[in-house]
Amino acid sequence: MSDTMISREIRLAARPNGMPTASDFELASVELPAPGDGELLVQNTWMSVDPYMRARMMDRKSYLPPFQIGKALEGHAVGKVLSSNHPDFTKNDLVLSMNGWREAFISDGTGLQKLETYGLPEQAFLGVAGMPGLTAYAGLLRVGQPKEGETVFVSGGAGAVGSIVCQIAKIKGCRVVASAGSDDKCAWLKSLGVDEVINYKNHADQSALMAALKAAAPEGVDVYFENVGGDHLVAALEAMNLFGRIVVCGLISGYNDAAPKPGPWNLFNVIGKRLRMEGLLVSDHQDMLGDFVGDLAAWVPAGKIKWQETVEDGIENAPTAFLKLFSGGNTGKMLVKLG
Ligand SMILES: NC(=O)c1ccc[n+]([C@@H]2O[C@H](COP(=O)([O-])OP(=O)(O)OC[C@H]3O[C@@H](n4cnc5c(N)ncnc54)[C@H](OP(=O)(O)O)[C@@H]3O)[C@@H](O)[C@H]2O)c1
Repeated sequence: MSDTMISREIRLAARPNGMPTASDFELASVELPAPGDGELLVQNTWMSVDPYMRARMMDRKSYLPPFQIGKALEGHAVGKVLSSNHPDFTKNDLVLSMNGWREAFISDGTGLQKLETYGLPEQAFLGVAGMPGLTAYAGLLRVGQPKEGETVFVSGGAGAVGSIVCQIAKIKGCRVVASAGSDDKCAWLKSLGVDEVINYKNHADQSALMAALKAAAPEGVDVYFENVGGDHLVAALEAMNLFGRIVVCGLISGYNDAAPKPGPWNLFNVIGKRLRMEGLLVSDHQDMLGDFVGDLAAWVPAGKIKWQETVEDGIENAPTAFLKLFSGGNTGKMLVKLG
């Protein structure tokens, strides 16, 4: 057996201007040596594509550094240890890393987390039991602070984060209204117990979306879990009740804007209604991980939390998977199966 291994990876070929295209990505191969002393070789089995990666493709200051042109992209991945000279890892261990967008890698163990799956499929740790799940849990419960009987509106409701927010809000005794971009997604949300669904693509202009939300939430909205921005934020600001909370988790409708768009014209509602609008960054809420895992361990077997995955096969299809996030091509968590 050869001591080296070929790993394919996806690199950033160019910084996208507007919606990324296939030519912004490049498939390349690297030869990995055998792991040295204190090192291990990991073969990725699943990788995640996430909307936040779009911001890292820009050369601008943010909470994470920009991706570098000509270098492999990064993101969460689950992998299996193929061989190890590291005291903390042995062959066949499962690990969670930020070394996605590649088939395999050599590591000295920095940033690797050994994965105990507790009977869940390993890729669940990229979705419901991973970063998107914690985002939903912390964002809704800590930032949104919903009370029993309140109305929660979730945009991007059929996505990885949104679908978990909807279900936790139901567990907490709230009335839930969610929006999504297809009838199939809306039907899935109904099957999860969401009270009212809005296919926002059937309400193409701002006033139609406002009217649809008012009809779906005649009692008003107490917590808005914002994944989308744009017309959704305008509609939510109109529908919010006094002392409502807006959890600003994501603004995906603007991630590919080539030029900035004007903000919501009705922001004055924040004053009159004494709204609290708070940005959410999941990394600020790692202290909730224990509570989250404990609750999930009870909710999943009880059938209170369900999830879907949309899967692309092979590293060469990772850019396709990523682009699907912006066209609504995923229901639930968008994943790439490797290996
Ligand atoms: N702040 C944090 O710490 C944090 C952490 C994780 C995620 N996020 C944010 O949370 C949001 C959801 O992330 P996710 O990983 O769960 O992704 P996701 O919802 O699984 O996938 C993205 C979805 O966004 C919708 N979408 C795309 N373009 C849209 C547009 N122009 N207008 C309306 N909807 C659009 C699509 O669904 P439709 O078919 O319904 O259009 C698509 O399926 C994103 O905004 C993301 O940036 C934030």
